Amino acid sequence: MTTDEARGARPGTALPDGQPILETRELGVAIGGVQILSDVSLSVRRGEIMAVLGPNGAGKTTLFNMLTGLRRPTSGRIHLQGRDITDEPVFRRARLGLARSFQITSLFPSLTVLENVRLAAQAHLGGSLALWRRVRRTDPALDQARAALRTVGIADHADGPAAALSHGGKRKLEVALAIVGNPAVLILDEPTAGMSAEDVPELTEVIRQVRDTHGTTIVLVEHRMDVAIALADRMAVMHHGTLLACDTPDNVMADQVVQSAYLGEAL
Ligand SMILES: Nc1ncnc2c1ncn2[C@@H]1O[C@H](COP(=O)(O)OP(=O)(O)OP(=O)(O)O)[C@@H](O)[C@H]1O
Ligand SMILES: [Mg+2]
Repeated sequence: MTTDEARGARPGTALPDGQPILETRELGVAIGGVQILSDVSLSVRRGEIMAVLGPNGAGKTTLFNMLTGLRRPTSGRIHLQGRDITDEPVFRRARLGLARSFQITSLFPSLTVLENVRLAAQAHLGGSLALWRRVRRTDPALDQARAALRTVGIADHADGPAAALSHGGKRKLEVALAIVGNPAVLILDEPTAGMSAEDVPELTEVIRQVRDTHGTTIVLVEHRMDVAIALADRMAVMHHGTLLACDTPDNVMADQVVQSAYLGEAL
């Protein structure tokens, strides 16, 4: 997909194969006898950015955990690029092109920013994780790591320790770690959480850049309504473990059910 096509991948636009890249069918999960999620049927189009919204406890993270394989659903199915992945473990979903952002805690703080991303790239390439391996200019993992750092805009910090990055820089590094294997679908749970208001637009731009540059499909939980509206082609609104609406930001904002059930006077 070209950059323009990716940018133009708005709802209603015919996408290359018309098939959803990621789809849940009547997904549900009960935890300890309590129904946490019910009947969630969500269809994500190739190359779109979808924001998942909903109040605390709506089930957003639980949904994401089922998408990535951390939690097994008790009903329904999940399809990735037409393939049923419901019973696939986390690592196999990753191999099939589904990535989620790493937590800051998974960084090696004393290694350089570049080394952190190179290790993630090596893991994707199936290479050795040996830290003592001599860095060569032809190392494909190194090339991929450099490209990922350029995409997220922290190439200037490549040779400094990861620990020295600002909070915003670390969030960008998390995105770099997630995209280094060039995933088809990137799952981000609250990428702007804990960021100062000034840092948010930059990270938002990085996320958009990932989609525009690589055509990556992105599904993210975002609490900041302004960010979701600015970034998302479509917004899915969850409430009490169900999917209330999934539509363009304009249509979701105008949806009476969404307004009364979730957004209320916040609008
Ligand atoms: N391991 C668990 N055991 C029991 N209940 C759980 C568990 N995980 C989540 N829940 C419950 O499931 C519901 C959905 O939680 P979830 O974390 O998915 O919500 P969320 O939409 O991500 O909320 P937030 O906006 O606060 O991150 C909540 O009522 C929560 O208490
Ligand atoms: Mg959550």
